[in-house]
Amino acid sequence: MTQPNESTWWQRGTVYQIYPRSFKDTTGDGVGDLRGITEKLEYLEWLGVDALWLSPIFPSPMRDFGYDVSDYKGVDPLFGTLEDFNDLIREAHARDLKIILDFVPNHSSDEHPWFVESRSSKDNPKRDWYIWHDAKEDGSPPTNWRSVNGLETPGSIWNWDEATQQYYLASFSPFQPDLNWRNEEVKEALADALRFWLERGVDGFRIDMIDFLSKDAELRDEPPETAQADDYLAAATYQMNRPETHDYIREMRRTVHDYPERVMVGEVLYFLSPEQLNAFYGDGSGLDLPFHFGLMFLPLDAKALRTKIDAYEAALGDNQPNYNLANHDMPRLSRHGAGSRLAAMLLLTLRGTPFLYYGDELNMANVDVPPEKQQDPFVIYEIGMTRDGMRTPMQWDSERYAGFSNVEPWLPVAEDYERINVEAEKQDKTSMLWLYKGLLELRRATPALHIGSYGPLDETPDTLFGYWRESEGSRALVLLNFSAEEQEVTLPAEEAWSVALSTLLDRNGKAEQTLRLRPFEGVILQPT
Ligand code: NOJ
Repeated sequence: MTQPNESTWWQRGTVYQIYPRSFKDTTGDGVGDLRGITEKLEYLEWLGVDALWLSPIFPSPMRDFGYDVSDYKGVDPLFGTLEDFNDLIREAHARDLKIILDFVPNHSSDEHPWFVESRSSKDNPKRDWYIWHDAKEDGSPPTNWRSVNGLETPGSIWNWDEATQQYYLASFSPFQPDLNWRNEEVKEALADALRFWLERGVDGFRIDMIDFLSKDAELRDEPPETAQADDYLAAATYQMNRPETHDYIREMRRTVHDYPERVMVGEVLYFLSPEQLNAFYGDGSGLDLPFHFGLMFLPLDAKALRTKIDAYEAALGDNQPNYNLANHDMPRLSRHGAGSRLAAMLLLTLRGTPFLYYGDELNMANVDVPPEKQQDPFVIYEIGMTRDGMRTPMQWDSERYAGFSNVEPWLPVAEDYERINVEAEKQDKTSMLWLYKGLLELRRATPALHIGSYGPLDETPDTLFGYWRESEGSRALVLLNFSAEEQEVTLPAEEAWSVALSTLLDRNGKAEQTLRLRPFEGVILQPT
């Protein structure tokens, strides 16, 4: 059982991810903007989250909706101006809300002036800012490495440039060329961009594809077994995540932690083992929070969850865990149907920093966006579809376009918006929204839940997952019934217990010693 001695805001708090295009449109162009976020800070404060992570807001051709940056030190006009950003920071801080920006240092847009220069000729001073290489003698790419999300050229990570007769490397898509982290000027330019935002008061960064920053120095091919593996990315060892990654993270950390109380969150591959994840903390010299996606693909199965969580806890020791159950790349939590309330309780009661995805607090749907309305150029292989369905506009009220915009939004609004929206759910004290609010309030008020240790309960029925959270003078017991059947649980006799919160929001107060959990019910108990 582990417990941090001192805790900072990002260890105690919860992070709420905003996809700015879809949060609130104030300019009437059908796309969300920074002023829209500022306008909704009151709601976020009411909800009870601590920090907001904004998906990229920088100038971009928007072919990957901001993950293709063309200027690391600006705001895309679609989202507003730097002044709007300054206002957002000021207003957020006045409400004690932190702001975390997305940062995309592995690749830029191919329209970034750096790349435009780099591709202009072989002897341009910025040539080495990206990764260029001659073809093999037979004209084929320099290595057999594969891109994560091929577009025009699914498959190879290398893209042929006719004009200069060389290949450039792009780990994600051909229009997102990888920056060369072996070049000192590149590192300095990116550190300068970090400082630009730190000086403006941002509280940290979520760093995109951080484990891709380093590639094998000798450009070795992946061996044939890897090249043919179904889970190629999991098997690949040369095209990403070389030991230098940890040096680069350390250097970035120095820049970020030159400013007090900032946080560095890193997006690492979805399927890393707990031990691999733990290495990213670098004994305090690495990431503060390497993203953990281990529960993202699990069914809501008590045993499977416990096994995953226990292994993660065991590997991390005193390092701060974190949990992501949904985001802008993966399906929303409503995918769990009747279990989505349990998923919410799990997310907000485990040890570590929870990441919430906008709209999940309403139980927003994964929308089936018709092909003619789809925007995302990528089909994500884990889910076999584009990411549009989980990026649809936030549902604020039952007005046209769900109060998101007064014109047709860039993606369609979910059909159920007249029922699933902030205003309607505020009126119904048993709604998903009130469950999130209740969980967030209880978590904030209860040291056991925000900083306490985690200890699983043994000898529970197979479909029940139970765990203790404990901190000096504060205890909570979480019981989650992942079955469609009722379950009886005998509570420890030495104490009297009360239900602090049920996922069904229809009971609290003194608990019988034999507690009956209804189908798909979860409860948080506290000693009275
Ligand atoms: C991961 C981001 O989460 C995703 O949305 C993006 O498309 C890729 N990285 C490329 O930057």
